[in-house]
Amino acid sequence: MVELRDFTLVDGRLLAAWIAGPVELWTWSGADFSWPLDERQLAEYAAESATPLRRSWMAIDAASDQAVGHASVRFDADRASGRIGRVLVAPEARSKGVGAAMLTSVLATAFGELGLERVELGVWTDNSRAIRLYEGLGFVCDRVLRDVEQFAGTSWSAMQMSLPRSAWGAGAVSG
Ligand SMILES: CC(C)(COP(=O)(O)OP(=O)(O)OC[C@H]1O[C@@H](n2cnc3c(N)ncnc32)[C@H](O)[C@@H]1OP(=O)(O)O)[C@@H](O)C(=O)NCCC(=O)NCCS
Repeated sequence: MVELRDFTLVDGRLLAAWIAGPVELWTWSGADFSWPLDERQLAEYAAESATPLRRSWMAIDAASDQAVGHASVRFDADRASGRIGRVLVAPEARSKGVGAAMLTSVLATAFGELGLERVELGVWTDNSRAIRLYEGLGFVCDRVLRDVEQFAGTSWSAMQMSLPRSAWGAGAVSG
């Protein structure tokens, strides 16, 4: 349903178009980027994605050949584990299984080609749609960091989730 293609700076305009405002940007990436998501930040992100520290992809819908999503993995120092982040589906493509299909491909790449033993991620506790997506793929909550950030006059709590390679595929959503 979707194929992964490496993210480059040309794709940055799509990310900027899919993120409607500062709260959406915060929901997507926490404090990693600041509003507005401009060319300078996107260029730095594309440059980091071309180093051994990170790998980032656009998800391409196989039927239409259109980009419909984005995700990234930042590798830990030993390269045995990594952190999935920057998970985003184009607004018009949401709630149709694209997120599940994209992350199924990302996990297959992470545990296959990239040889990771474990992946982690962080998600704000109020992002029930994303949590449901991650739980459907087999991620479990390791801990909740309560009131770990303040943004837009609100306290934000972060759920830390993980998936070891040994659990990958057990009950995972197919895509
Ligand atoms: C979170 C996001 C990536 C999900 O992508 P998506 O393509 O809409 O997700 P899917 O259609 O694949 O749905 C995956 C699961 O979530 C569930 N889901 C989808 N929309 C939902 C909703 N509004 N409420 C609750 N669950 C929902 C689906 O039912 C499915 O669960 P199931 O497999 O048990 O049926 C997408 O909504 C998005 O880009 N959000 C903005 C950015 C963001 O929050 N990123 C995550 C940062 S941690």
